[in-house]
Amino acid sequence: MNKIKISPSILSADFSQLGNEIKRLEKGGADMIHVDVMDGHFVPNLTIGPPVIKALRKYTSIPFDVHLMISPVHKYIKDYADAGADTITIHPEATENLSESIKHIKQLKKRVGLSLNPNTSINVILNYLDQIDLVLIMSVFPGFGGQKFMPEVLEKIKKINQIKKEKKLKFDIEVDGGINFSNSKVVIESGANILVSGTTIFKENNGDLKKNIEILRIV
Ligand code: DX5
Ligand code: ZN
Repeated sequence: MNKIKISPSILSADFSQLGNEIKRLEKGGADMIHVDVMDGHFVPNLTIGPPVIKALRKYTSIPFDVHLMISPVHKYIKDYADAGADTITIHPEATENLSESIKHIKQLKKRVGLSLNPNTSINVILNYLDQIDLVLIMSVFPGFGGQKFMPEVLEKIKKINQIKKEKKLKFDIEVDGGINFSNSKVVIESGANILVSGTTIFKENNGDLKKNIEILRIV
């Protein structure tokens, strides 16, 4: 059973202290940092862009797991690669040519992820599974932290895990949205090997990051 990785979302961090928050997360045992980029167009919220990611890069050496909730996305991919992203995850709906966008991320020597909204079928990405490093399954409609986990996505996680096994593929399965202490186990048992969490990690146990990261990892 490969190790469960935790990717805390800085969307729930203190935005006035992002550098220190990232250092605290690394010290607390985070495997990577989930950076939610939102453009107020693909999703109804606006967060951070390449200059902020570039400024944060020097605060940690752990990977930046960058979730681009922006559209159109293709022309901005290089900016995020240059800013220090390690994984660049895009939504299929946000590019006119998914193949080209995947190729572009790979040419930039970054890990490539595809993200499925709760109402986006696995069929949309079936033909690309052998070209990507990560499938990011949204368990909320993207745009905000603190939303309620949608249990109907468990079937989707199981299905993508089954396809991964049948085709002997290596992509990671990451789940993002409303992950907490009561659903993390069933999400892992369904096939996820990376959990994103913002609210639970920053708010539970008086914000004890190390403790919250550890609890989420337990199967
Ligand atoms: C939502 C983001 C998620 C979110 C997770 O659009 O993609 O990464 O920040 O936050 P919680 O864990 O609070 O649902
Ligand atoms: Zn996210």
